[in-house]
Amino acid sequence: MRVPQRTMKPETAINVEETIALEERYQLATYKKMPVVAERGEGVWIYASNGERYLDLYGGHAVAATGHCHPRVVKAITQQAGKLLFYSNLVYSETRARAAEKLVSVAPELLTRAFFCNSGTEANENAMRMARMTTGRENIITFSGGFHGRTADAISATFLGKYRELGKPNVPGHLQAEFGDIESVRKLADESVAAIMLEPIQSMAGVKLAPPSFYRAVRELCDQRGIILIYDEVQTGIGRTGEWFFAGSEAGGGIVPDIITLAKALGSGIPVGACLVTDRVASHIKENDLGTTFGGGMIAMAAVTATLEAIEVDDMLENVRRVEAYLRDRLKEIEQVVSVRGRGFLLGLEFAGKAKPIHEALLDRRIITGTSSDANVLRLLPPLCLGQGEVDLFVDALAGVLRTQ
Ligand SMILES: Cc1ncc(COP(=O)(O)O)c(C=O)c1O
Repeated sequence: MRVPQRTMKPETAINVEETIALEERYQLATYKKMPVVAERGEGVWIYASNGERYLDLYGGHAVAATGHCHPRVVKAITQQAGKLLFYSNLVYSETRARAAEKLVSVAPELLTRAFFCNSGTEANENAMRMARMTTGRENIITFSGGFHGRTADAISATFLGKYRELGKPNVPGHLQAEFGDIESVRKLADESVAAIMLEPIQSMAGVKLAPPSFYRAVRELCDQRGIILIYDEVQTGIGRTGEWFFAGSEAGGGIVPDIITLAKALGSGIPVGACLVTDRVASHIKENDLGTTFGGGMIAMAAVTATLEAIEVDDMLENVRRVEAYLRDRLKEIEQVVSVRGRGFLLGLEFAGKAKPIHEALLDRRIITGTSSDANVLRLLPPLCLGQGEVDLFVDALAGVLRTQ
């Protein structure tokens, strides 16, 4: 049955209830939404259409790394929009050239080339395909608790909760190892294996990190057996951990994978994904092996360059490290916080009880946080420009919430 169209003029504002009712009516109900009608954003703040302002410690799924509407990003995409919205990879573009150069310049030295696409799942699909092309093998090892996206190959690589089930029938050749357990990887890593792919900090699983020795052992195993190592840095990349990438970091044992996949923060909210690859991988990829219409489009590329520049110019990596230390320190005041997991601004606060009621009570106090598939963990993925004053607001609100629960 066709639903009658609303007769309102397009310029007439609609109120909060009407907005919610329209979305509920016309959009598939795939997400449980917060009762917030987001209208505009600035830095770490989201302004709702009813005039209320929310402290955003979630960044719209870790996307708003440079903060909402960073002026450098807004200016870059606005200027680009006035020149050329899009042309595909069939032509060269100064905007694309600059973005590729800039991204490679902040990457670990061994990663010398970029492939641009549109999302995290697409980056992972292409990374696995490149590993198969490079090695001539088919199987992929991934880990319990890892999340890699929702398209066929990526969801088949996702051994977290019910996700893999949702992708049935799964792509064959996906093998599951235990995160942090090198013996479980060794048992599977035979000559059929093209790649080992891991989310170096398992975010959705509840912000889980392995010891540095684990990442080093995985790298060694890959070297010994000719396997491509893929880091899914869709969440950890682009400054989130207080460094450009988890790859190469001390927490990760200093090792660098053969491919890094990126998305989320890379375009500050303009959809863009990327694979960064070594010379060895690049040498196996020929014309027409990979492709995507929108990958490398000009608006996205302008957003990438401006995002990376904003992080640099505003010294956000240093800010993440400093403010993380301050937050960890202040959280010591709250005895209900059993542990603080993660690195930089990818943090999981573990409680003895459920995190969901805490998340909801914080939302009542206009603070947006995230949950995870670990029911006791509250996830924080704030913009990289979060300051100490906002940490104080959060910690004081958290203490208040916990007093009343
Ligand atoms: C680690 C990781 N990999 C891949 C993805 C998929 O990214 P996208 O939703 O852009 O496809 C996500 C999304 O949450 C993610 O967190």
